[in-house]
Amino acid sequence: MADRPLLVTSALPYANGPLHLGHLAGAYLPADLFVRYARLAGRDVVFVCGSDEHGAAITIRAHKEGTTPQAIVDRYHAELEHALDGFGISFDIYGRTSSETHRETSQDLFLAVERAGGFTRKTSTQLYDPEAGLFLADRYVTGTCPVCGYEHAYGDQCENCGSALSPDDLIEPRSTLTGAEPERRETTHWYLPLGDLQPKLEEWLATKTDWKPNVLGQVRSWLQDGLQERAMTRDLDWGVPVPEGVDGDPEGKVLYVWFDAPIGYISFTREWARQRGDDDLWRRYWQVGEDGTTPELVHFIGKDNIVFHCLIFPAVLMAQNEAQPDLPRFVLPENVPANEFLNLEGQKLSTSRGWAVWAEEALADFPVDLLRYGLAVGLPETKDADFSWAEFQARVNGELADVVGNFVNRALTFCARFTDGQVPALVEPNEKDQQMLAALETATATVGAAYERYRLREAVQEAVGLARLGNQYLQETEPWKTRKTDEQAMRNTVHVALQVCASLSILMEPVVPDAMASLRAMLQLDGLRSSEPPADSDRQPTGLGWSDAATPLLQTNHAIGEPGILFRKIEDEEVEAQRQRLADRAAAVETPEEEEPYADLAETITFDQFTPLDLRAGRIVAADVHPKADKLLRFDVDLGFETRQILSGVREHLAPDDLVGQTVVVVANLAPRTIRGLESQGMILFAENRDGALMPVTTSGEPGALVK
Ligand code: 2FM
Ligand code: ZN
Repeated sequence: MADRPLLVTSALPYANGPLHLGHLAGAYLPADLFVRYARLAGRDVVFVCGSDEHGAAITIRAHKEGTTPQAIVDRYHAELEHALDGFGISFDIYGRTSSETHRETSQDLFLAVERAGGFTRKTSTQLYDPEAGLFLADRYVTGTCPVCGYEHAYGDQCENCGSALSPDDLIEPRSTLTGAEPERRETTHWYLPLGDLQPKLEEWLATKTDWKPNVLGQVRSWLQDGLQERAMTRDLDWGVPVPEGVDGDPEGKVLYVWFDAPIGYISFTREWARQRGDDDLWRRYWQVGEDGTTPELVHFIGKDNIVFHCLIFPAVLMAQNEAQPDLPRFVLPENVPANEFLNLEGQKLSTSRGWAVWAEEALADFPVDLLRYGLAVGLPETKDADFSWAEFQARVNGELADVVGNFVNRALTFCARFTDGQVPALVEPNEKDQQMLAALETATATVGAAYERYRLREAVQEAVGLARLGNQYLQETEPWKTRKTDEQAMRNTVHVALQVCASLSILMEPVVPDAMASLRAMLQLDGLRSSEPPADSDRQPTGLGWSDAATPLLQTNHAIGEPGILFRKIEDEEVEAQRQRLADRAAAVETPEEEEPYADLAETITFDQFTPLDLRAGRIVAADVHPKADKLLRFDVDLGFETRQILSGVREHLAPDDLVGQTVVVVANLAPRTIRGLESQGMILFAENRDGALMPVTTSGEPGALVK
């Protein structure tokens, strides 16, 4: 294996919510599997991560909870660190982007690029919330949709009729933060001219033919659309301040969270180096050394982060290299093995709908190794994957317990019972013994190669495959019989089976490190290199490593300890309880605990104010979906004297056919209006229940009858 210094990163989780299994399967467990493998393989690796503590999402959350952004990030940083640690994610450092080192690192980089003319500065008008004192992203403006009249449309889209909007389109726009009417204000920002950088990015990406197809696909599609300049600064009072010394006024401006967050990878490596008493050690993992040593940078992320890691951050690093050509060059990522998303029990994960399994919750119920294994064998590596508790149970019980655990248990029990708890000598092994020993070499190579290619599911499954072979071998060699007929054959079987156990304890270490440590304790096998971060400042790995799994590790007459249970099984009731918890939580979100109140009565009107309304009975003769707005239904309504086309935004509540044949009440003298190319000639009345369900107001009058 190459001995280039290796820096592995996991996407920095936002410190505004707890960690769930989807996060773990996306960027943390895969990185940890890879890093543990790399450590065992003797690589000089540093694994960094930390909390992403900036960005508007955090300020908004603080605003909603009536607290400060600092309080939010303090709380979630501690929670995230605890959960990641509980899951055995073996970072060399877990930092925070609110740290002083991070401020300094990202400001220095910004300033260097700025001074070299790497940004353009532009003034534009943006919406501003005068009460919150904040510029508003489109999503934080709401108002009435000009197309369908829906009152809660967002500044970028109406969720009722599906129209794409800009905040200017909204009638009576309001800030979602304070309810204040936004103002338009001019503001100046620093933009990264990604369009200009595109040719260089393309040239670099052309060399990345071995990247995962899901990653390359997304990258190509961004490039095909043409990269647009992006603002790298924001008007906020939370974040890394735009540094003094820039050309222009930095007052009130911070770096865009997606500018500073990936720089966190650098800051945390610097902090790690400092903790080791060598301030410059970080450079070994980020920059081309004087002797030409080129570190290898690998980012593990979820698919929603691809553009930032494959285009924007590399563009920033390129700009930095150009800005300071005399300084050592930063390397660009060697690979970005992004994962797709993990669904849960057949549905998309959604924290707001309560459809998620929180890491801490899962850790309270199951040993961490079982969770790591259950997730690892179903990682969403090339397409979205589903996690279900039933499959988790099947995999843990059928593979970990019945294949790996059972094999180890048989091997150790035979040794205790038939060979005095010692490794017997191997004498004139037969073909089966030899084949089994040869499989150690094949498995070590196959599993290692899968790790090298970021095929982590495959790596884990291939390692289990060795235990499967071990079970077959025991079935075929039948030591319980040969002990009476051919004692040396039995002793050879026990010898070989124990060697398989020893190798397994290395090959399965990345995925189930606790159990493999127990296995090595049972085997009394010492001297394995740790897959945990090395504590010492000397990063030269010592001890047995990955490649040693290819050959027998146990000496003849070596004493073996007591066999024990490596993996417990999961009971049906446990699966049921997990499912029930999910269902209960989702139901609690769907059904508000208290009944909704009745809508307030509108202001009193006079009879004269009512009479202008011309209400008629109308029979719905046909219905379909608006061809250009899939939230709208189109009805043909027979008013007796004529048939009208009427559009209603009720698709979410009703199927087109639900109303055909019914006679409903229609506002017949409403001025017609055109919605997405179709004219609506009136309005059908609906009663809205307290839970939001819409019911047509029907009548037994004949079509055209006056309703009064
Ligand atoms: O999507 C997210 O959760 C971001 N906080 C990831 C940041 S990754 C990196 F660039 F820091
Ligand atoms: Zn609308």
